[in-house]
Amino acid sequence: MKQLKSILLVATALLVTVSLNAKPKIRIIATGGTIAGVSTTSASSAYTAGQVGIQTLLDAVPQILNLADISGEQLVNIGSQDMNDEVWLKLSKRVNELLNKEGYDGVVITHGTDTMEETAYFLNLTVKSDKPVILAGSMRPSNAISADGPANLYNAVAAAVSPNCKGMGVLCCMNNQLLDAKTVIKTHTIDCDTFEGGPSGIIGYVYNGEAHLLQSPINRHTKNSVFDVSKLEELPKVGIVYGYANASPLPMKAFVDAKFDGIVLAGVGDGNFYKDVFEVAVEAQKEGIQIVRSSRCPTGPTCLNSEVDDEKYHFVAALDLNPQKARVLLMLALTKTRDWQEIQKFFMEY
Ligand code: DGL
Repeated sequence: MKQLKSILLVATALLVTVSLNAKPKIRIIATGGTIAGVSTTSASSAYTAGQVGIQTLLDAVPQILNLADISGEQLVNIGSQDMNDEVWLKLSKRVNELLNKEGYDGVVITHGTDTMEETAYFLNLTVKSDKPVILAGSMRPSNAISADGPANLYNAVAAAVSPNCKGMGVLCCMNNQLLDAKTVIKTHTIDCDTFEGGPSGIIGYVYNGEAHLLQSPINRHTKNSVFDVSKLEELPKVGIVYGYANASPLPMKAFVDAKFDGIVLAGVGDGNFYKDVFEVAVEAQKEGIQIVRSSRCPTGPTCLNSEVDDEKYHFVAALDLNPQKARVLLMLALTKTRDWQEIQKFFMEY
């Protein structure tokens, strides 16, 4: 009996030691983008996104194995200009499965930068976990001189294993910076320092393999989100119409004729429409197509009942969301309600 007790004690001590020394389990999901891109020569700026697979990305930065117990999978291999609802739904369901059923401690997603902000926000509203979910990409292809992908991937894994990133919602990790899903925006077509965090700035940074958080998101996200896509096979159709002087109403008419569920206006100034576009929007709202007013301005809120009487027309004001983010929230809001006042509340909370 004594011998059995001492065997059990040793076994327990071993288990505790192993578990204390075990590295966090991190899954890396590859979707393509420039980080997986290949250029004709290392000095050339001409390249094609989504060319190399997940193993090539992991092999380029073996140092991540010092940070975590790493495994990877290839979901798709596309330029993110081709990101779509089908991939979003697969990605959200897969992340929830990894975090809530397969025991992973965090997920890193490699992604093109063109629509990274949209995917990040969609996941911010549909992932049901407070574990870190970090998107990483690059502005230079994988075989470029000073490719930025490996360092971004290393930093993303460092953030994914950091307790500081737990409960922060979905984050993007680029150029040593951490940006939250709601405010992150691509601001420059070719610069490695392209992502910014809007008026609130970056949420943190990664330095020397450590994630440092400077602030927390104030909007609802992840576990505190009411949106659930686990049983959805498709999403409501929402288009975006760009506003400008003497704008044609044809694009908005086309969305109406195609029976879209919602239309976001990237309006001028504080979400204003050209008069011909306004008339189509009023009729569309009466037909049950939800109109959301956002702005083509890079910063500043689209305010409720300012120059446009939203109350009168049942329009929704996008508040702090740019057009591409407003579209994501409207798509998910329309899976819950068609009531414009309820939808406006979602724009105040998320
Ligand atoms: N085709 C673009 C994309 O996949 C390249 C931009 C990038 O990934 O940096 O988003």
